[in-house]
Amino acid sequence: MSVHINAKKGDFAKVLLMPGDPVRATWIAHTFLKNYKEVCDVRGMLGYTGYTKNGKRISVMASGMGQPSIGIYSYELFSQYNVETIIRVGTCGAFQKYINTKDIIIAQTASTDFNWMTDFNLQEGSYSAGATYDVLEAAVHESRKSKAKVHIGNIFSEGRFYHFTENDKEPWWKPWEKIGVLGCEMESYALYCNAALLKKKALGMFTVSDHFQKPGILSSEERAKGLRNMIEIAIRVAEKFA
Ligand code: HPA
Repeated sequence: MSVHINAKKGDFAKVLLMPGDPVRATWIAHTFLKNYKEVCDVRGMLGYTGYTKNGKRISVMASGMGQPSIGIYSYELFSQYNVETIIRVGTCGAFQKYINTKDIIIAQTASTDFNWMTDFNLQEGSYSAGATYDVLEAAVHESRKSKAKVHIGNIFSEGRFYHFTENDKEPWWKPWEKIGVLGCEMESYALYCNAALLKKKALGMFTVSDHFQKPGILSSEERAKGLRNMIEIAIRVAEKFA
């Protein structure tokens, strides 16, 4: 057991899919894995290990919301359970007009307004958090085979969902949109930093659930369907790292 995970050593596979929501972790295990078993449940942060239809052993565990939460779970999984690769499978908001809800975004890099890296004692400069290249390459390759519309680039891992600094001139997200950032979520920056620190592998991919320049938000049914395309891609990627 680690501080926040009540699984036994060896309960997790080498590769793990990580949605934010525990209900979604259960749905992924139920829908995509055979012979799976629940391996942890502290604070309802459910984790499962099972086999893909091609017989590859993979795990799925929820991260909760935000960098502090995914920071805790990814650190313990990497450092105490020998998990080598974590693929975050979440949702995000989109900034760019050429992106639509239901599209998929793959985070080549993550930027943030959160102070995650202050603890790493960099004397000068700021850290550019990036996906691990071979996992990114596999995800790009697999996503090109799918019908889903996929965008690859920089995303903003925001430290707060609600922003109180908006002024009349420009909404808070506009400067990020101007420099080409695709959209925002709340976890990938910390995940990428933990993977870098511990010499592990990480990738974040997201279904676009809402848009900052277009009306409408995905219904739960559309969200589930969009998610299905993305999880199918993520499972094929995970199989390569199993
Ligand atoms: N902000 C942060 N996280 C999100 C969003 C958003 O707009 N949409 C889905 N996850």
